[in-house]
Amino acid sequence: MEVIIVDNELMVARTAADLVSDLVSAQPSAVLGVATGSSPVGLYQELSRRVNSGELSLERCSAFMLDEYVGLGAEHPASYRRFIEEKLVEPTDLPPANVHGPDGSASDLVAECDAYEKAIASCGGVDLQILGIGTDGHIGFNEPASSLSSRTRIKTLTHQTRLDNSRFFDGDIDRVPHHCLTQGIGTIMDARTIVLVATGRKKADAIHRIVEGPVTARWPGSQLQHHPHVTVVVDEAAASELE
Ligand code: F6R
Repeated sequence: MEVIIVDNELMVARTAADLVSDLVSAQPSAVLGVATGSSPVGLYQELSRRVNSGELSLERCSAFMLDEYVGLGAEHPASYRRFIEEKLVEPTDLPPANVHGPDGSASDLVAECDAYEKAIASCGGVDLQILGIGTDGHIGFNEPASSLSSRTRIKTLTHQTRLDNSRFFDGDIDRVPHHCLTQGIGTIMDARTIVLVATGRKKADAIHRIVEGPVTARWPGSQLQHHPHVTVVVDEAAASELE
């Protein structure tokens, strides 16, 4: 695991964008794994800037989302599909048809998860997975105690995650769904390279646990220690509990 500590949020975004840009320059039809939430927003803004200035093109790339809330259709303003459309698809040249996500409104959620795994495999797997980290150490929505070899499936969100994410639902935790579909930890570990971004003091404990702690299902992100190509890009605040 390589850990890159930079001064601030802007530098996290630029450093992670360099890693994505390097891959896409070498491999223009790269398959990207895309996270939602606040952490990758700066990175998506930087990628958008580079696309719009002609430095980068995502035109031949495709993308697979990590997760989605159960019960929220693509048109719901807080759905992860909508988020990726707004933050990454609309501001860049990434073709909307090349973006895939688990459908949280599918009538058969188990079949949907199975089909999603097959869709990732049929594209040849993810070349570069972008990740954030939950304050409880989750990656994707693999909450503490998730199986470290899990595949895409339905999960129950913890109270902490619903509280953390209530900011996307006008601060009302009662509107945050209880369930999600998420790539499993095993699915995430299949990505050929992984870039995890984290900023702010709130993430410091999780970063310390997943980088320096034992590999344990209590801190799902710690499984990344077993991946051969992970880069963790953090600002000083998120790195403040590293030894
Ligand atoms: C989002 C995701 C989550 C987030 C994590 C951190 O697709 O899979 O693991 O990365 O909850 O969220 P933020 O970045 O909002 O703090």
